[in-house]
Amino acid sequence: MGAYRVCGGKKISGELTIGGGKNAILPILASVILNSGVSVLHNCPRIADTFTSIEILETIGCKVAMEGNTLIIDSSGADKCEIPEKLVGKMRSSIIFMGGVLGRFRTVKISYPGGCELGLRPINYHLKALTQLGAEITDEHGFIIAKADKLRGTKINLDFPSVGATENTMLAAVFAEGETMIVNAAKEPEIADLQNFLNACGAKIKGAGTDAITIRGVPRLHGAEYTIMPDRIAAGTFLAAAAVTGGSVTLRNVMAEHLYPITSKLTETGCGIQTRPGIVSLTSPGKLRALDRLRTCPHPGFPTDMQPQMTALLCTANGTSIVEETMFESRNRHVNELMRMGADIILAESGRTAIIKGVKKLKGSTVSSKDLRGGAALILAGLAAEGTTTVTNSEHVERGYERIEHALTQLGADVVHLCSESHLGE
Ligand code: EPU
Repeated sequence: MGAYRVCGGKKISGELTIGGGKNAILPILASVILNSGVSVLHNCPRIADTFTSIEILETIGCKVAMEGNTLIIDSSGADKCEIPEKLVGKMRSSIIFMGGVLGRFRTVKISYPGGCELGLRPINYHLKALTQLGAEITDEHGFIIAKADKLRGTKINLDFPSVGATENTMLAAVFAEGETMIVNAAKEPEIADLQNFLNACGAKIKGAGTDAITIRGVPRLHGAEYTIMPDRIAAGTFLAAAAVTGGSVTLRNVMAEHLYPITSKLTETGCGIQTRPGIVSLTSPGKLRALDRLRTCPHPGFPTDMQPQMTALLCTANGTSIVEETMFESRNRHVNELMRMGADIILAESGRTAIIKGVKKLKGSTVSSKDLRGGAALILAGLAAEGTTTVTNSEHVERGYERIEHALTQLGADVVHLCSESHLGE
């Protein structure tokens, strides 16, 4: 139980180096189980979800050491094929371990991840794809048991380009006999990062980043040394922080092409964007323009993981914006909190569409973070608000941002992380 105390009104300005991506490292950590060697991963974000993945790897029998942002994982002694329920409960994406453990041991037991703060989040596409590869899946008292004497490559047409289902299928197909083709695959850059790591370990995968991925089965993988790609959502969050405070920022260690869906929308709000290899800079005009329509879509559309931060930014833009969330039914729980800060927002279409009428200023208040990106959005709103904002339930934000208060302070903001309940009254 912690909180962020944000004193608003300071312009974000300066330079920041972006670390490794949460949604890149999590599937890569799940894939490490497929090799029986030592993997060295650089640029690993020190976030709660990384530590939960490490706990899962240790439970399975891997030896893990972390030095700064480098992880050294020895998977040679892995011998367990059950993912404990308490770890699946902590982090929904632990479901990606299913493909890796099934691929290595031909059997896996994992509890249903269930719904989460973003909505129902079923795993039917994951289960269907693994079944098509030859796994027999049964349900025993809330646990999924998948077994396969043999996994066989085949053509799998995903009903929706689900990121997790694409990753799980890739992992299970690495040791499958013959060739697997995933059609209508997710095209997110993190999928290409997973492919690149697996290929460095000896896998034969092509096409990640497009909607057709081919995996030629191999008998074994070895460990590899690899650097995790930069976090495009953390980068987008810091760009939005500069935009909403009327500041300017230069981000290093970013991939401009991955950020384009975000930077193109920030340009529409009036921000100036400059890119150089590995670098993106933003200059805010001060008062931002509203957006006619922002609609979340699978990559290369506008990422759902940046929707709450953009909603926060549009609260003080000139004019009325419409923001449509198409991915997660409960991703707008930050909206009520923004309204407590003086935002003028109407939710329509069962809460999926936000109609945001820009107000002159937000007012500092005590608000509660309901999920990771919603929490980041409230911090951004606090940066732009008059007075002090306290964002409670900081543990959501800690799942995906490495010391966000430190990064923002480096950029001139006044943000403090209050770690214990006793500080919350300060
Ligand atoms: N879906 C199904 N059935 C399935 C799988 C997905 O109906 O079997 C639905 C989901 O309910 C959702 C949509 O398909 O409505 C997209 O889900 P997807 O599977 O693509 O998402 P995910 O793999 O569970 C990853 C990220 C999320 C990010 C989404 C979409 C990781 C660890 N998580 O989740 O990240 O929002 O892709 O881009 O990669 C975050 O970082 O804040 C976050 C939630």
